[in-house]
Amino acid sequence: MAYLAPSILSADVLKLREHVQTVADNGADYIHVDVMDGHFVPNLTFGPFMVQAIRRLTDLPVDAHLMVTNPNALIVDFAAAGASLITVHQEACNHLDRVVQSIKQHGCRAGVSLNPATPVNTLEPIIESLDLVLIMSVNPGFGGQSFIDYSLHKIHQLKALIEGRQAPCLIQVDGGINTQTGVKVLQAGADILVAGNAIFGADDVARACRDLKTITDKHTGRTV
Ligand code: DX5
Ligand code: ZN
Repeated sequence: MAYLAPSILSADVLKLREHVQTVADNGADYIHVDVMDGHFVPNLTFGPFMVQAIRRLTDLPVDAHLMVTNPNALIVDFAAAGASLITVHQEACNHLDRVVQSIKQHGCRAGVSLNPATPVNTLEPIIESLDLVLIMSVNPGFGGQSFIDYSLHKIHQLKALIEGRQAPCLIQVDGGINTQTGVKVLQAGADILVAGNAIFGADDVARACRDLKTITDKHTGRTV
């Protein structure tokens, strides 16, 4: 079985309560919160207040994806806000090992994300320390972009690295995920699908969430 993490980036902020409830009732395993600072990516979104607000709406774990220039400075606030998993970008961390240790010391699971053009082997030295690697399958910054096909090759490479080292690390894939691309990334080795537009951009949010949940449920991968 694999897992589904709807991204509230594509939700209607005026219907956030309803949208979170709908995905929680229709198979979501995490709520994915995209944090953008206008520097690391050309867009601005949410701070720790959003994680806190979501925690009041649901018991589902909140997965905070920090697309920011200095993630180390924000870990304490996102942990205090109730994030279960904090993912930082490899490209944003001069001292990645220190940042990963800090996330864990603050009681959260630690993820590291790779932009499309960043090679998987940059994580070789640290893979045993990670709870999750997030393969970006679009250039981060916006929802609703098209899936980049060469991401599949990176998922295969990451899966081989994780299995070769017997590391307890999950593979999350984010960007352009729908029922077609979702099946491909699961076959390549993904454990968690992030989906924004395919769920919250649909006329029937509940049904779109269930459709994606169906493909993650069918998948026979690892469990956490
Ligand atoms: C992109 C974000 C994604 C985004 C995915 O920078 O990290 O989580 O919400 O959106 P879709 O599924 O619409 O590509
Ligand atoms: Zn994301």
